[in-house]
Amino acid sequence: MDLMLENSILNKHANIAVIGLGYVGLPIAIRLSNVGFKVFGIDISEEKVHRLNSGKSYIIDIHDEDIDAVINKNLYVESDYSILSDIDVIIICVPTPLTEAKQPDVSYINNVVDNIIKYLSREVLIVLESTTYPGSTEELITAVIEKRKGLTVGKDFFVCYSPERVDPSNKKYEVKNTPKVIGGATNKCLEIGIALYKSFVDTIVPVSSTQVAELAKLFENTFRSVNIALVNELTQMADRMGLNIWEVIDAASTKPFGFMTFYPSAGVGGHCIPIDPIYLSWKAKVFNHYNRFIELATDINMNMPRYVVNQIAEILSSENKCLNKSNILIVGIAYKKDVDDLRESAALEIFHLLQEKGAEVTYHDPYVSNFKSGENTIFSQELTKANLVQVDLVVIIADHSNIDYQLIIDNSGLIYDTRNITKNYRGNNIVLLGGYRKDNNKKAFFKE
Ligand SMILES: NC(=O)c1ccc[n+]([C@@H]2O[C@H](COP(=O)([O-])OP(=O)(O)OC[C@H]3O[C@@H](n4cnc5c(N)ncnc54)[C@H](O)[C@@H]3O)[C@@H](O)[C@H]2O)c1
Repeated sequence: MDLMLENSILNKHANIAVIGLGYVGLPIAIRLSNVGFKVFGIDISEEKVHRLNSGKSYIIDIHDEDIDAVINKNLYVESDYSILSDIDVIIICVPTPLTEAKQPDVSYINNVVDNIIKYLSREVLIVLESTTYPGSTEELITAVIEKRKGLTVGKDFFVCYSPERVDPSNKKYEVKNTPKVIGGATNKCLEIGIALYKSFVDTIVPVSSTQVAELAKLFENTFRSVNIALVNELTQMADRMGLNIWEVIDAASTKPFGFMTFYPSAGVGGHCIPIDPIYLSWKAKVFNHYNRFIELATDINMNMPRYVVNQIAEILSSENKCLNKSNILIVGIAYKKDVDDLRESAALEIFHLLQEKGAEVTYHDPYVSNFKSGENTIFSQELTKANLVQVDLVVIIADHSNIDYQLIIDNSGLIYDTRNITKNYRGNNIVLLGGYRKDNNKKAFFKE
């Protein structure tokens, strides 16, 4: 029987459902449609479903034409789960955030599994792509379906875990050319999973279990978190020593082996680096293991917004100004360069921290026209000479490529650059994160 499923994948007759059409799910659904599968996208957001059905994208890396080429041809998008009764392959790409108490929130996966069980009526391959702790696929999908439906994995249904590695705004690596790690609940599950991914990804990396695949993904992002924390800690040290950390990094980066470059920032953001390591340390505690590196890195990275706010207060005070009532313009509110994603954005936290301290805060971001702050909607300000001259301090946080930095330098009294984007510009009104000099002479705050 299982051969039928494998064959339907190999000859692209399998109907595929992608559940959760966000940054991860939508590119996969489009890629599968482009290689010839009939794909059903399911998302609980009526707004997203409506937009896609109108041929409109809501993800920066995906253009309206990409949607238009497949929508209602071989990509069908809806909010209703009942289509699952006609589906051969289910790929789950729903969010895995943290609860308020900073614990894994797997309720989105549980909700999807409830719906799969409701409509499960034939042999299916289920693949989880959401990032989560080792053991999730087994505990939340395989064991639940076996118990509630009385089925056997590897015989009646098939389960794999294949972590997503998408890097928003990365023009070089997309779904097709990013190697894909995959682990199966059984050998047969892995075999069928490989058949699926081979049809639309160049390089497949099979591993011996779903747990290994889950841990590999968390290791990748923990590696980033720890190295970012290291550079952020050295940045604070360089500020005290009066050394320019960016110059230090440039020099160290010339080593042709054994060194990988990470840069300082006002804090980590997005749906991955601030969250994924916490999934791992949470699970490790169940085994009585305490991941000290993860806790330390999280502590340093999560405190960077407060460090930046303290620096802002010192910079203003060097000009005999006080944070309270100062006009501060944040440039780049998204969590990183050239994306429109605000999730876990350090700039957003800095915005609120500055407001709490009585500053008058505005922002400019070409990718984020507005955001909700409690009851209020805050709108991006135009970057004009008239606006800039009224501001006490401009803080550059996300260094988007399409911003006129020369305009900022020419028209602002004071700039705090947390990304070294002004590296190639001259101006004696710029203070650099990690290039700051603690000196009684206020001029020594500025880069030469
Ligand atoms: N964004 C990234 O760069 C990235 C990279 C690698 C891995 N991941 C992981 O992939 C997963 C998804 O992340 P994302 O960035 O795509 O999230 P996202 O918020 O952009 O998209 C998730 C989508 O799922 C939908 N959804 C939520 N519950 C649903 C349900 N029960 N049924 C159907 N749809 C539902 C939401 O409406 C949303 O459109 C997370 O586990 C994340 O950690 C994300």
